[in-house]
Amino acid sequence: MAAKAHRGGGNPFEFGQAVHADSIVDREEELRRLKDAVRNGERLFLIGPRRFGKTSLLNVVQQQLEREGVVVLKYDVEKFESAELLARALLAGAIRALAGAAEKIGAVVNRQLKRFFGSLKPEVTYDVMQQSISVSFGVTRGPKDSDLPLLTDVLDGIEAMARAGEKTVAVVLDEFQQLVASGGVAAERQIRAAVQTHRHVSYIFAGSKTRLLTDMTSQHGRPFYRMGSSLFLGPVPRSAFIPFIRDGFERHGFKVAAGAVEHILDLVEDVPYSVQRLAHRCWDLLCAGGPGAQGALTSAFVDRALERIALEEDPAYTQLWMSLTEVQKKALKAVIASGGRLLLSKAVTTEHSLSAASMQKALKALNDRGIIREEQSLGDARLRLDDPFLATWLKAAQST
Ligand SMILES: Nc1ncnc2c1ncn2[C@@H]1O[C@H](COP(=O)(O)OP(=O)(O)OP(=O)(O)O)[C@@H](O)[C@H]1O
Ligand SMILES: [Mg+2]
Repeated sequence: MAAKAHRGGGNPFEFGQAVHADSIVDREEELRRLKDAVRNGERLFLIGPRRFGKTSLLNVVQQQLEREGVVVLKYDVEKFESAELLARALLAGAIRALAGAAEKIGAVVNRQLKRFFGSLKPEVTYDVMQQSISVSFGVTRGPKDSDLPLLTDVLDGIEAMARAGEKTVAVVLDEFQQLVASGGVAAERQIRAAVQTHRHVSYIFAGSKTRLLTDMTSQHGRPFYRMGSSLFLGPVPRSAFIPFIRDGFERHGFKVAAGAVEHILDLVEDVPYSVQRLAHRCWDLLCAGGPGAQGALTSAFVDRALERIALEEDPAYTQLWMSLTEVQKKALKAVIASGGRLLLSKAVTTEHSLSAASMQKALKALNDRGIIREEQSLGDARLRLDDPFLATWLKAAQST
C-alpha cells in the first residue's frame, strides 16, 4: 500500500515508499551526521526499525552529496537475490559515475576495468539507446562457491578507482543485514577484511533488524565490532511532526481540534509510516465529508479513520493471524495487553495461560517474523508491534 501526496491541492500526507525529499520532516541532525561521515571517509551504521524513514533519509543524503560532487553508489540489498547481482550493479554504477560520460565507454573504460577489476574478468555491455550499462563477470566459480568475494573484489576495485580518480565516493547499502543473514559471521569477516582497508570510499550500512545489527556492531569479538559508528534512527520528534500534520489539515481549510493530532501519534505509537497513513486517511475522509466530519479533525474522527484502515487490511491481518500458532496468538495478545513490558513475569504469563518458556519461544518467533520488535530507550526495554494497526484490527475482530 503506497500513496504519494499530490503536489498542489491533493492529500499532503505521503506513505509507502520513501517520502519526497522536500517533504521529509525533521531529521536535520541525522542528515548532518550522515553527510559528515561521508565527507570524512567514515563507516557508519544507520540502524532503525522498519518504516521509520531510513530510505527517505538516505535519498536526501544522496541528493545533497551528489550536488557537492560526491559519487554516491546507493543500493537496496533486499532487491538483489545474490551478492553477485549486487556486485554487478555496483560495478555498473561505479563505471557510470567514475568513468565520466557514458558515451566515452570503450577504450577508456576497458582500460580502467582491466586495471581495477581485472581479476573479475568483467564484460561490460553498453546500450546506446537505453543509455544503460550491464556487467557480467568472466571468472569461473564452482557451484558451491560463495559469491561474496565477487562483491568484495568489486568494492576493492571501487576503492582503487576512487584513489586514482581522487573523488569522494560513498557506498550506501540499504537493508545490508541481508548480505550477512545467510553467510553469518564468515560473511561479516569477509566484508570487514575488504572494507577496513579502504581509505577513499566511505560506507553507510543501513538496516532495520535493530537487535541483530546492534549485536553485530557492539559485541566484542564480532567482525563488525567498532568497524564504524552507529546512528540510531528514532521516531520523528513530535515537536516537528505535530506542526507538519496540523498544517497539512489547516492549509486545506479543515479545523483541527485540540489533542487530535497528538491522538494520531498516540494511536500509532509514533511510527512515521503509520502516522502518515492515518493522517492521509483522515484527510481523505474529511474531504469526502463523511458522517461526523463537518470539516474538523477531532479525536473521535481519528478513531473512526483508524478503524477504517484496520478494516481495509482485514484480509492481510486475517492471513497473518491464521499463520500463527495458538501459543503465538496468546503471546501477541499479551504484548498488546501488557504494553510490551514484563512479559515473562508470573502475572502476565498466568493471565495468558502460558509458561514462561513457551512465552519466550513464541516471542522469539514473533520477533523473527518481524511482527514484534524490541525497543530500548533510557534503560527501559519493551516489545512493540511492528505494525500498530494490527492491534486495532485484533481488537475489532475479537469484539463481541
Ligand atoms: N522524516 C519523515 N518525515 C515524514 N514522513 C516520514 C519520515 N520518515 C518516514 N516517514 C514515513 O514513513 C514512510 C516510510 O519511510 P521509508 O521507506 O523511508 O522508511 P524505511 O525505514 O526505509 O522503511 P523500510 O524498513 O520499510 O525500508 C514514508 O513513506 C513516510 O510516510
Ligand atoms: Mg527502506
